[in-house]
Amino acid sequence: MTDKPQQFASDNYAGICPEVWAAMETANDASAPAYGDDIWTQRAADAFRTLFDTRCEVFFAFNGTAANSLALAALCQSYHSVICSSSSHVETDECGAPEFFSNGSKLLVAPSPDGKLTPDAIRTLATSRSDIHFPKPRVVTITQPTETGQVYSIAEIQAISATCRDLGLKLHMDGARFAHACATLGCSPADVTWRAGVDVLCFGGTKNGMAAGEAIVFFDTALATDFDYRCKQAGQLASKMRFLAAPWIGLFESGAWLRNAEHANRCANRLAAAIEGVPGIRLAFPVQANAVFLDTPDGFIDALKDRGWRFYTFIGGSARFMFAWDADVKAVDRLARDITELAVAATKAVEVASHGTGAPGIVSPLSRPQIPG
Ligand SMILES: Cc1ncc(COP(=O)(O)O)c(C=O)c1O
Repeated sequence: MTDKPQQFASDNYAGICPEVWAAMETANDASAPAYGDDIWTQRAADAFRTLFDTRCEVFFAFNGTAANSLALAALCQSYHSVICSSSSHVETDECGAPEFFSNGSKLLVAPSPDGKLTPDAIRTLATSRSDIHFPKPRVVTITQPTETGQVYSIAEIQAISATCRDLGLKLHMDGARFAHACATLGCSPADVTWRAGVDVLCFGGTKNGMAAGEAIVFFDTALATDFDYRCKQAGQLASKMRFLAAPWIGLFESGAWLRNAEHANRCANRLAAAIEGVPGIRLAFPVQANAVFLDTPDGFIDALKDRGWRFYTFIGGSARFMFAWDADVKAVDRLARDITELAVAATKAVEVASHGTGAPGIVSPLSRPQIPG
C-alpha cells in the first residue's frame, strides 16, 4: 500500500482484499485442469449453492457487462425486449452489449428519477403494445442496489416478481453490489433473490474485494441450458478458470463478502452523517448502501476537486462518492471536513453576493454535464 491519499470516485479503485489474495495464492500452488474442470471451480460453485441454500447453476465471467449481457441474452430471443430503469447500467454503461449479445433484443427504458423500477412502471411498459410490430416484453432487469445506491426491500422485489409472473416476464437482477444490499437488509441472500422470485442474478465480485469477476447464478436452472457455450462464444470462458473461481471461495468461506460490504456501507453512512445539516449540501438519494450522491452549491465541485478529491458527477450531475472494502475511515473524515468547509464558504459567498438575502444556490443536478462513469 502507498501513502497516496485515498479517493472515493469508484469502488473499482480498491485493490484485492486479503481473503481473496490468500485464496488465489492457494489456488496457485500447483497446476490444475483448465476451462473450469478444476477443484476450485467446483468448490466455488458449491459455495454459491451453500450461500443461496439452493441447487443453482453458476458460471463465472470476467466482468459485469459480460455477465449482465449474457444472462439477459439467455432469457431472450432477438425479437424480445428487456424492461429496465433509465439509470440502469445495462442501459447507460454497457455500450449496447445486452442488445449485441442477444442479437438485438431491445431495451425498454422506464423513466426513473430515483433509479428504481416499480410494478406500475413495468406494467405500463409491458402492456403499452401487444401487436406484432413491437418487440415482445420478455425480461425485467433490476439493479440491487440501484445505480443511485438504493436498496430494494424484499417486499419490493416480491411485488416486482409478482408483476413479472402475471405478465409472463422473467426477472434478472444486476447485483454488481449485491453483497452491499444483503448487508443493508440483514437478510439471507436467498430471501432477496430466488425466494422473492428472481430467476437470474449477476453477483458482483469486483466491487466486493476481488480483482475481477462476476458470477451468473441461475435459480431457474432450465434457463442455464447451453449457457456455457454462450460464455465461450463471448470470450468469457477463462482457460485458467481457477483464478476466477478461487476468489469466491476466499470471499464466502471467510465471510469477507459480507464484512467487506458492511464496512463499505458504514463508510458511506459515516460521510452522510458527518455532513448532515451542512448548508447548501443535500443528499440526492437516501444512503442505503456504499454510495453517497450530493447536490452541492455553486462553485463547490471545482473547489473540492482543487483540494485533490476525485469523484464523478454523473446520474443527474450529483457528486458521487463510492466506498469500498478498503475505505480508510480517516480519509472519509477528511473528505467530510473538506465538504463542510467548502460548502460553508460557498454559502457565505452566495449570501454576500445577494447582500445576505439569498438562499444557498444548490446547483440543479440536471444543469450539469453528464460525465460517463
Ligand atoms: C450497476 C452496475 N452493474 C454492472 C457493473 C459492471 O460493470 P463492468 O462491466 O465494468 O464490470 C457496474 C460497474 O460499475 C455497475 O455499477
